[in-house]
Amino acid sequence: MKKYKRNLITAALPYANGPVHIGHLAGVYIPADIYSRYLRLKGEDIIFICGSDEHGVPITIKARQEGISPQQVVDLYHQMNKDSFERFGIQFDIYHRTSHPTHHKTASEFFKTLYDRGEFTEKETEQYFDPGAGQFLADRYITGTCPKCNYDRAYGDQCEQCGSSLAAMDLINPKSTISGSVPVLKKTKHWYLPLDQYEGFLKKWILEENKHWKSNVYGQCKSWLDGGLEARAVTRDLDWGIPVPIEGVKGKVLYVWFDAPIGYISATKDLTKNWADYWKSKDTKLIHFIGKDNIVFHCIIFPAMLKVEGSYVLPENVPANEFLNLEGDKISTSRNWAVWLHEYLDEFKDKQDVLRYVLCANAPEAKDNDFTWKDFQARNNNELVAVLGNFVHRTLVLTHKYFAGKVPGQAVPDKYDLEVLSSIAAYRERLENHLDHFRFREALKEAMNLARLGNKHLADSEPWKIIKTDPDRVKSILYTSLQITASLVAIIEPFLPFSSRKLAGFLNVEGVAWKDIGKKDLLRVGHEIARPELLFDKIEDEAIQVQLDKLENSKKMNEMKEAGFPAAKDEISYDEFSRMDIRIARILSAEKVPKTDKLIKLDLDTGIDKRTVVSGIAEYFKPEDLPGKQVTILANLAPRKIRGIESHGMVLLAKDPSGKLIFVRPDQETSNGSAVL
Ligand code: 2FM
Ligand code: ZN
Repeated sequence: MKKYKRNLITAALPYANGPVHIGHLAGVYIPADIYSRYLRLKGEDIIFICGSDEHGVPITIKARQEGISPQQVVDLYHQMNKDSFERFGIQFDIYHRTSHPTHHKTASEFFKTLYDRGEFTEKETEQYFDPGAGQFLADRYITGTCPKCNYDRAYGDQCEQCGSSLAAMDLINPKSTISGSVPVLKKTKHWYLPLDQYEGFLKKWILEENKHWKSNVYGQCKSWLDGGLEARAVTRDLDWGIPVPIEGVKGKVLYVWFDAPIGYISATKDLTKNWADYWKSKDTKLIHFIGKDNIVFHCIIFPAMLKVEGSYVLPENVPANEFLNLEGDKISTSRNWAVWLHEYLDEFKDKQDVLRYVLCANAPEAKDNDFTWKDFQARNNNELVAVLGNFVHRTLVLTHKYFAGKVPGQAVPDKYDLEVLSSIAAYRERLENHLDHFRFREALKEAMNLARLGNKHLADSEPWKIIKTDPDRVKSILYTSLQITASLVAIIEPFLPFSSRKLAGFLNVEGVAWKDIGKKDLLRVGHEIARPELLFDKIEDEAIQVQLDKLENSKKMNEMKEAGFPAAKDEISYDEFSRMDIRIARILSAEKVPKTDKLIKLDLDTGIDKRTVVSGIAEYFKPEDLPGKQVTILANLAPRKIRGIESHGMVLLAKDPSGKLIFVRPDQETSNGSAVL
């Protein structure tokens, strides 16, 4: 294997439009963190880069859904994800963001370099435009009927009913999700990266020189390359992103997948002034940790960009994982079918390592895999508690019981003990072999096997039976057990960093270097250890049931949504609720707003004043039936002009899935102005 001077490890930049969930962790962040910690423990020169991906359509969609600006969206989720990663022990050297000025400058300059050299091709095409909103529509902003299965809520890029990927032009009866209007085709110019021209290079580099890549990654690349590459647009008609740095071009930004991977470079620039040593030296080992949906971008498009630019290193490996499912179903943000990291951290305090363990033991390294809460509980109780925790606890307790908490010497070294001691180094070697090849599940198994060996050695030797008759033998047994626990401090650190630190505390040591695993006298004779505590606690059925109930609730909400009821909204505080002035009012008079189908103008007596409210109820009520009725209103809603009439407040209505409206009214007569609490 080639020797490198430095390691540049990147983990996919998560979109800052939502929280991180277990799928992201198992696919990307846990393996990347294990690998980075391992290299650090070995004393290698390594930097570990990540940050928020803050551009692109997903951000603008979230902003529109929430009624806030894209900047507010990314500020919120950048902070949330940065904090969650930190609490979870993902030890990035920097958690950057693509809205940062350093990144805007770096990505603009990258584009400009290629543009000035004439590397892009320019093309004018027709794309859907929303005349009402005055903007071009990204595929996700168009819905219509799927040409394959007739589902009437398919998106411009995909039908969620039949799973087909679509082009916006394929949709029958396309509609803009922004204004609801029918989009029109309009000409627009974009810049393309001519991937077809790099096919020769990519085929040689990937198919011949990167045969060592994981088979799922290599296979996906091969099928892209075999299918033939086409030029890809690297600009978009959007108002959120990095403006296209070409004079005279307005209203266009860099395609998010052009700018995002450059984010790794920008982050490195803000981390160290020696950034170029990492990015522009042949001695750098660049590794991208990603999920399988990112393979084409990290193995084909970004390397092509780097190659064309010419001064950067290309990735040595891209160990992408497959997907993690949850309780047998695809993880889905829109269906709230996920375990969210920030919620887990709040609900399972100090149990970061349990989730790290389960997600690594069950990582979707070669195929999609399933996370279940029962398996989570079983792995904690039967493996972390019963194997690792139990071994450590027995060793510490017995050392206190027989030797006042001091490491005993091997008065008479025993053959079995010596064999066990000399086998520890082989565990390290096997672990290295697995970790160097990104086989994290196998590596974790090997780490646990050392604890298993410790348990077996104790169980076979039975020190508690011979302490009276052969105390020297017991010294040798516990000396052996203690050396194993010390090696475990280093061995489990990449996987279970919180427990490693705890164990180091139990053993009264600062930490253990990787190279010292299996070293003689790692814990010196006479060294005093601390009072033993438990490394892991059992997880009871109740805690698991809470999680299963949460998922059951999501399922119910999804069924409601499917039936046409709106999704549940985010929780609000009592203060937020109490700011709403909701009260009972009586309709004094009602008339249709001329030239509209839906609007009725209502004059109301609210008890505190007389006022006018415009309400969209004309399809369900006749104006002449309304005077005298009591209704409920939100009285302190800011006034709005509707069809030239100023509306002061809102009448509260209930809408069923068919769209039918009825009033929300008191169930008996009450005074106008009565407050709703
Ligand atoms: O798939 C995603 O979540 C992307 N935001 C990953 C970007 S990785 C890199 F290129 F920035
Ligand atoms: Zn379909």
